[in-house]
Amino acid sequence: MTGIVAVSGASGKTGYRAAEELLIAGFQPRLLLRDKSTLPPSLLNCDQVRFNLGDSKALDQALIGTEALIIATGARPSIDLSGPMRVDAWGVQRQINSCRRVGVNRVVLVSSLCAGRWRHPLNLFGLILVWKRIGERALERSGLEWTVIRPGGLSERDCNLDTEGIYWSRADQQESNSIPRRLVAQCCVEALKTPTSIGRIIEVTSNKSLPSVSMAEALDQLYS
Ligand SMILES: NC(=O)c1ccc[n+]([C@@H]2O[C@H](COP(=O)([O-])OP(=O)(O)OC[C@H]3O[C@@H](n4cnc5c(N)ncnc54)[C@H](OP(=O)(O)O)[C@@H]3O)[C@@H](O)[C@H]2O)c1
Repeated sequence: MTGIVAVSGASGKTGYRAAEELLIAGFQPRLLLRDKSTLPPSLLNCDQVRFNLGDSKALDQALIGTEALIIATGARPSIDLSGPMRVDAWGVQRQINSCRRVGVNRVVLVSSLCAGRWRHPLNLFGLILVWKRIGERALERSGLEWTVIRPGGLSERDCNLDTEGIYWSRADQQESNSIPRRLVAQCCVEALKTPTSIGRIIEVTSNKSLPSVSMAEALDQLYS
């Protein structure tokens, strides 16, 4: 797959890295942003589209001509506890609906370990894990070619990651540990290049003591 890949939430700490990784992999990222979203200097020359996620026409327009969408939106921490419902469930659903309308067939969603859990401390922020699962379900039922990446706790560590191995698992196998956002961004791009990731929920955490295994190899082992 080569060409234009949309990244929503491209101003976020995982989203901007996903866009950077797309550039490294030879794709052309199209950044889907809000009016006031800010970008790192590395992305200022990329194609940018600014709109409100609730504006379906603008969303459709932003996706036309793209081959795939990486969804890296996520509710920002806030005293408004409706954020996870609006962004992680309905916002994801809107993006999926738009993909279906305009014929973008491939979607990679950044979700979270423990998505779907009711009893979890993270749910103190607006039942976020419950809404994330609703977003995932919408994608699973969309008829699109989808992959859900469920990372553990996200870190900003950006150095010495070459030797860090990923612990890959199927859904609902992991519930703790962390992973740098840079590796999650790389997983999103790797998913686009790994046909066997289609229709899979893939949980990822990382650790320097783990060997480096590609997504394709890991999926072969998990599903053989
Ligand atoms: N934090 C963790 O440890 C953790 C663990 C597992 C999974 N996750 C999930 O991983 C994903 C990435 O997390 P992150 O911490 O890297 O993200 P982040 O830095 O918080 O970025 C969130 C992105 O979503 C956008 N966004 C938020 N509300 C929006 C709205 N109403 N309409 C359109 N865009 C909106 C933001 O745009 P603006 O820049 O305009 O605000 C930003 O681009 C999220 O889904 C998060 O829930 C996080």
